[in-house]
Amino acid sequence: MSSEDDSSQPTSKSKKPKYSRFTQQELPSCKPILTPGLVIGILICFAIVFVPIGLITFTATENVVEIVDRYDEDCIPLKSPDNPENERVGYIRDAGTNKTCIRTLIIPKKMKPPIYVYYQLDNFYQNHRRYVKSRSDHQLRYPSHASETKTCEPEATTNDNQPIVPCGLIAWSLFNDTYRFSRNNTSLEINKKDIAWHSERTRKFSSQVYPKNFQSGNLIGGAKLDETKPLSEQEDFIVWMRTAALPTFRKLYGRIETDLEAYDQITVIIQNNYNTYSFSGKKKLVISTASWIGGKNDYLGKMYMAVGGTSLLLAIIFTFLYLFKPRPLGDPTYLSWNRNRAAVRES
Ligand SMILES: *[C@@H]1O[C@H](CO)[C@@H](O)[C@H](O)[C@H]1NC(C)=O
Repeated sequence: MSSEDDSSQPTSKSKKPKYSRFTQQELPSCKPILTPGLVIGILICFAIVFVPIGLITFTATENVVEIVDRYDEDCIPLKSPDNPENERVGYIRDAGTNKTCIRTLIIPKKMKPPIYVYYQLDNFYQNHRRYVKSRSDHQLRYPSHASETKTCEPEATTNDNQPIVPCGLIAWSLFNDTYRFSRNNTSLEINKKDIAWHSERTRKFSSQVYPKNFQSGNLIGGAKLDETKPLSEQEDFIVWMRTAALPTFRKLYGRIETDLEAYDQITVIIQNNYNTYSFSGKKKLVISTASWIGGKNDYLGKMYMAVGGTSLLLAIIFTFLYLFKPRPLGDPTYLSWNRNRAAVRES
């Protein structure tokens, strides 16, 4: 600092910082030298950890048996194929048409219970902002808050201003296809108990709130609810109210609790009620077992194996280089300016 600067700040003391190991940058530090041996060792450790985890998770999901049957297209008889969209919507809206649809599924491999039955919707945006907000959690939880329907527009009250319980678009659009299963002409029981989470049944949906004025408007959005049962016992409804984050989602319909043998023929009688035709949604029926890591999704296992495999491959390549084309560590002749000088000298 020049003396002029000093005179401009007459009161300032010396700017020199007090001595400390921090300000003087004398703290100990770790500067690992990545020698070939160390790098190869680290890569092999990665491989040893990742490959087995990948194999274990992959075989777990490989053992899951899953059957997916898309039925929305086949379950509507098309008479004039020139305008399928209109015809389908007309068919589904018409209360008089017979919506029963019979599907046959072949079990590819033995399935052990619990066998989960899901319905899957595609292109259904349960995460749309106005849809997600159109509900009243207070109303669902507290019997005395039945008239709290402000947040439920446009499904808040009936025409004569009675509060709808449960209100809102989510409840209004409740899925209403039903499935009945049979094998060799004997019906297969579907257990629909405990398909919703325990915490939802006991805390979010009251055992004292009963449906009222629900689905009473001109446009029916979906399933009706049994007015003699409290919300906490309407588990299909509770499952539907837990909105999905993505436009393709599955929701639990029930559980089959007997063994299904390989090549069994399962007959499913579907009531194809729900209108996904006006927005090109798809409807699928899914039957699946589960492993400790969930349903049939091999992504995680493959990812682990890919990372572990890449590490192993790199370790092998580095080992070969190290063995057959080694070079001394820290050799200054490899520095670019030294190499340039050498090139100049040669020419
Ligand atoms: C099922 O829901 C659709 C709307 O998706 C509605 O038009 C139809 O009336 C409902 N049917 C039954 C039986 O609830």
